[in-house]
Amino acid sequence: MLRPGDLGLVPEPASTQVPGGSVLLADGAGIGTDPALRPAARWWRRVTEEAFGLDLVPSATDRSSVVFALARGLPAGGYGIDVRPTGLVRVEAADLAGAHSAAQTLRQLAGPDAYRRSGTGPLALPVVRMVDHPRFEWRGVLLDVARHFLPKHDVLRFIDLAAAHRLNVLQLHLTDDQGWRVQIHRYPELTRTGAWRHESTVGTWRTGSKDGRPHGGFYTQDDLREIVGYARDRGVTVVPEIDVPGHVEAAVAAYPELGTRKDRSAVRTTWGISQDVLDPSEGSLAFFRHVLDEVLDVFDAPWIGLGGDEVPPTLWRESPRIVERAKALGLLGDDGRPDVAQLHGWFVARLAEHVSDAGRRAVVWDEAMSPMLPRDVIVTSWRGYAQGAAALDAGYDVVMAPEQAVYLDHRAGEHPAEPIPVGFLRTVEDVYAFEPLPAQLVAPSDAPRSAPLVELVETQVSTSGGATNGRGRLLGTQAQVWTEHLDSARRIDYATFPRLAAFAEVAWSPRADRTQGSAASKEFLGRLERRHLPRLDAYGVEYRPLAGPHPWQTRPGVQGYPRDLAAETAVGGWAGLGGWRDDGGAENLPVGGPAPETPEGDG
Ligand code: ACM
Repeated sequence: MLRPGDLGLVPEPASTQVPGGSVLLADGAGIGTDPALRPAARWWRRVTEEAFGLDLVPSATDRSSVVFALARGLPAGGYGIDVRPTGLVRVEAADLAGAHSAAQTLRQLAGPDAYRRSGTGPLALPVVRMVDHPRFEWRGVLLDVARHFLPKHDVLRFIDLAAAHRLNVLQLHLTDDQGWRVQIHRYPELTRTGAWRHESTVGTWRTGSKDGRPHGGFYTQDDLREIVGYARDRGVTVVPEIDVPGHVEAAVAAYPELGTRKDRSAVRTTWGISQDVLDPSEGSLAFFRHVLDEVLDVFDAPWIGLGGDEVPPTLWRESPRIVERAKALGLLGDDGRPDVAQLHGWFVARLAEHVSDAGRRAVVWDEAMSPMLPRDVIVTSWRGYAQGAAALDAGYDVVMAPEQAVYLDHRAGEHPAEPIPVGFLRTVEDVYAFEPLPAQLVAPSDAPRSAPLVELVETQVSTSGGATNGRGRLLGTQAQVWTEHLDSARRIDYATFPRLAAFAEVAWSPRADRTQGSAASKEFLGRLERRHLPRLDAYGVEYRPLAGPHPWQTRPGVQGYPRDLAAETAVGGWAGLGGWRDDGGAENLPVGGPAPETPEGDG
C-alpha cells in the first residue's frame, strides 16, 4: 500500500486510497460521459490523446473504459476517481465543476508526460480510489494585463496553468493608469490612445530609470470572448476588472473630460499611485455604465470587478465644484462639512448598482467599502486580513487576498541575484503557510455574536451558503500577479511558479497546520520538488528554482524596492496599511518610505 502523498498530487485531495499497482489505457479505449460533463471529458480526452499519441473513442458509458458520471451525495465541486485493477477508470462528479477538477487530477495521475503536447505512450494510471472536493468555492488568481500587456496566447496558457492547479477564477485586471486593454466600441479612443505608452519605468520609480521603448496592446472583444470560452472549457471563470475611480490615467488620456484636472495628458509611464482620479461627475458615471454594458456583454461571469483601490482624494479637495457636489449628495463628515473622500465609495456603489441591475455581482477592493455599498457586492481584502473580517461582519461576502501573504509579484527569496526584488519576502513556504482566515480574526471583540466567525464561515462553505446570522460568507481566496516588474510571460512564470502551486493547495485542500517547519509543510516541499516540478518542466514553465534564479532569470542593475513585513506589521497590525494612506490632504504616503510626488505601493 502506497501512502496518498506518493501520488504527488497538487493540490492534495481530501481522501485517497492507493492499494498499489497500475493499469494501462490502450489505444482505441472507449470513453463515455454523461452529457452534463462532456466539456470536461472532452478536454481530458484531447490533452491525453496528444500527450500519449493515442485515440480514445467516444462510446456508450456501459461499454467504455473511461466513464464520467454524475453522482449525488458529493459536495458542490466534488468528485471521485476510481481506477480499478480491471482497467476501468470511473469518474464521478457532483457537477461540471467537479468533473473539470477530476480531469485535472486524472492528468496529474498520468505523470509528467501528460503535460507534453506530443508523445507516444503508454498511458499508465495508478490503481486508486479517491474522493475530493474544494475547501473554497472561489480559488482565484489575478493577472494584471494592464501594467504590461500580455499577448492573448500567453493569457490562454496562464489559464491552462491555473486550471492545472484546480483554481477556478481568473480576475483579469484590464485597466489601469499605464494601459487600457479592453476594446470598447462606443469609446474607441480608450484603446486607440489608452492602450499605448511611449516608454516604461524599469524597476522601482525611485531611480527614474526609463526604457525609452513604446509599449502597449489590447484585446478585441472577439479575443476576450475566446479567452472566456477557453477558460470555461477548463472550469475557469474569467472575472473582468475595470478599475475606478482611481487607476484611470489611461482612460483620462483618451477622454480628458473624465479626469478631475480636465487637461490632456499621456498614458502614465511610471508605477505607483496616481492622484489623477476620475471626476466623480454624472458624465463619468454615464461613461462607465456604457463601458460596463459592453463588458457585461462580453464576459458571462456572475461577477464583475470594479476596482475601487487606492483613490487619493487630493484633487477633489482642491476643486470647489467637487466639494459642492459632495455637499449636494449629502456626503458630510462628522463635523457636518462636505467630505469629498466619500465620493470614492459613492461612485463605486453607483456602478455596483448598475452591475446588480444587470443580474451580476460587483467585486471591489476593500477600500471601496462604505455604508453606501450594496450588500450583494463581494469585497476582496488586500490591505490585510482585518478589512476582510470587517466586511464579513458587515454582511459582505469576502475573498481574502492580503498583500502580506499572496502577492506573487513580491520577492520569492533573498538570493543576491533575485530579479527586481520588490514587496515582502514571500517564499514558497510562506505562501503555503497562508491561512485565509487566521485565528486572530475569529471573533471580533466588538461584535458579540452567537457563533465564532471561522466556525460559521466554514459551515457555510461546506453547505454552499445559506443562513448568515447577518454575516457574509468567506467565498475563498485569491493570489495576485501584478506586472509592473513582470514584462513578459517568462517573468510571469518566474514570479508565479511554483508559489501558485502552494497557494492552490491552501485554496483547495482541507484546512491544516501548514506553518513553516510543520510536517505538512515539509511533506509539501518534498512532493513539490519530486513530483510537481517535473510536471511544470514538461509543460514548459520557467518557474523560479527553489534554490534561486537561473543566471538568465536575473536582471542585473535593475533596482527593486524590498519591503519589510515585520516592520510594516508592527505599524499596521493585521489590518495592514495598504499602499497609501489618506492623512486628510497634506500628503499621501506610500508604506515604508518618504512621500514622493507620485506615491507607489508596488515597488
Ligand atoms: C491593490 O493591490 N492595489 C489592489
